Amino acid sequence: MNTKQLKHHIGQSITLKGWVSNRRESKTVVFINLRDGQGVCQCILGLEDLGDDLFNMAKSLGQESSVSITGVVIEDPRQVGGFELHATDLMVYQNAKDYPISNKEHGVEFLIDHRHLWLRSRRQWAIMRIRNCISYAIHNFFQKEGFVQMDAPIFTGNAAEGTTDLFETDYYGKPAYLTQSGQLYGEAMAMAMGKIYTFGPTFRAEKSKTRRHLSEFWMIEPEMAFCDIFENMDTIESFLRCVVQEVLEKCTDELQVLNRDTTQLETISKTFPRFSYDEAVEILKGEKDVNGQNSLLTIQQDIEDTSARIEEIRKDILEREAAIAAGGMKKGAINFNQNKIDTLKQELKQLEEDLRNLPQWLNSAKNFEYGNDFGGSDETVLTRLFDCPIMIYDWPHEIKAFYMKRNPEDPRFARGVDVLAPEGYGEIVGGGERETSEEWLVEKIKEHQLPMDVFQWYLDLRRYGSVPHSGFGLGLERLVAWICKLDHVRETIPFPRYYGRLEP
Ligand code: 4AD
Ligand code: MG
Repeated sequence: MNTKQLKHHIGQSITLKGWVSNRRESKTVVFINLRDGQGVCQCILGLEDLGDDLFNMAKSLGQESSVSITGVVIEDPRQVGGFELHATDLMVYQNAKDYPISNKEHGVEFLIDHRHLWLRSRRQWAIMRIRNCISYAIHNFFQKEGFVQMDAPIFTGNAAEGTTDLFETDYYGKPAYLTQSGQLYGEAMAMAMGKIYTFGPTFRAEKSKTRRHLSEFWMIEPEMAFCDIFENMDTIESFLRCVVQEVLEKCTDELQVLNRDTTQLETISKTFPRFSYDEAVEILKGEKDVNGQNSLLTIQQDIEDTSARIEEIRKDILEREAAIAAGGMKKGAINFNQNKIDTLKQELKQLEEDLRNLPQWLNSAKNFEYGNDFGGSDETVLTRLFDCPIMIYDWPHEIKAFYMKRNPEDPRFARGVDVLAPEGYGEIVGGGERETSEEWLVEKIKEHQLPMDVFQWYLDLRRYGSVPHSGFGLGLERLVAWICKLDHVRETIPFPRYYGRLEP
């Protein structure tokens, strides 16, 4: 029996096993919020029902004590989960003392150091369940579409995505790298199966701390034979739509725990706007309007609006504080104003950060040099103009990986595509059409100064039945971060690995 099944047992006596996430008490009643992994249920343990010994035991329980509680299920829509358990019996597995994570605020470094325990908290619970739902939805989508799941090797002899961020290991006395991408192996498998996808860990030595980079992350990489870049974009679009809609449908409780504004996710049903790199640069630099908006003017307007709102909030806070200090206010009114002040301060903090960022975004957009890759702020400026993901394709070939196909009509461009998520999240998918010509590939391998011998097997794919093919890579953690609207990818994976972090 678990807390998710309570609705089928109203009025019946059942037993729940779980952990004490919160406990309050009065003289004759102890209230325990019991979490069992599935959800939470408030349990009411009365002195009269339990007797002295059990009641005293209940009163002594520390946070995260493990218990089993038997009682009668009562429907109560006001409670978390909508039910209450009126206890008749209590069994304690362990009475835990001094649990390090209390309900007060902790710094994020402290929480990450206690990640093994932090995972039990309500927010982390919600994030991990959403991650699980996303994984399941991803498999579901590809399996329904006839893709074969494949496991690419983790030890590799060749770089796929550039040599700067490889983790080198010792492989029986020879150097080997932890995989940056399963794509090249995926291409081989696609020529055997038609359509495949990988779902595995990937490693990149990203020696900088950003909110979107991990050293170990999970990537989903489909690869399709007889598929060009435009069909590839169609697949990406229906894939992302399907996954987000599944989360919206299955994870209503979890999204609510996170206070996620789901209207921002429902826009996934819109057609994703597609721009070439050239168009995207024009939009970024304010040379071309989109949706009746100009990127630079929008930011300027935002700077003005944000400054005005900050002034307004500061004034509001001062007035409320003065009113409380003046005395004579009823306790309820003081509480009300204090709560309001706290929320205003939160909003203020966010707005002040925006006001620091906005001029930098403006600058970076204005001064963007054609031919460069988009940086984080450029992506933010672009995506702020849209409420659903956008796709950017046909990139200057110099800034893309060696395997990208050139646009046959204009070989300055490589047929890569990036998907940028809205709300400031930026790139969540990178993909494209693959070069089919052995000759062009050999040239690119030389240009990137990659060792030719380790790519012979890859070149075989162009020697024996080469066909147009495409694919993409979705970073699972980036998708989870956007769907959950998190500040940082470190909360999207149970035990994050990033620069400077190996434990727990
Ligand atoms: O754009 P990337 O580097 O593309 C590839 O690896 C291709 N081989 C994919 C393909 O076509 N099969 O990486 C793909 C995605 C990025 O869009 C991003 O979501 C994620 O992987 N990603 C990271 N996520 C977290 N931390 C990092 N350090 C990441 N690097 C890339
Ligand atoms: Mg990329």
